[in-house]
Amino acid sequence: MAKILITNRDGEQSEIEGEIGISVMENLRDNDYELEAICGGQCSCATCHIYIDDAWLSKVGARNDEENELLEELDCVQPGSRLSCQIEFSEDLDGLTLTIAPDE
Ligand code: FES
Repeated sequence: MAKILITNRDGEQSEIEGEIGISVMENLRDNDYELEAICGGQCSCATCHIYIDDAWLSKVGARNDEENELLEELDCVQPGSRLSCQIEFSEDLDGLTLTIAPDE
């Protein structure tokens, strides 16, 4: 099992045992972490926005073009911004640390 360390929109920290092979968004949604994820992971709604901790940015890989286009439309984008549906959770990401972005 691999952990995901999460700070929610109220600044509260917690951790979950992540399921390998599904997206970070699905892991957060399945554990009631305030993500609307309206499009269900189709990279078209941006309601699964999270901030990846600096230490993990290189490990999760780069944003894809579609993701960049959606993030450009948001007001609260930061260097660590990602759409959590575009990151597949794997053993390599054990300890992934992230914050749920504000609702826009
Ligand atoms: S769930 Fe819609 S963009 Fe990620």
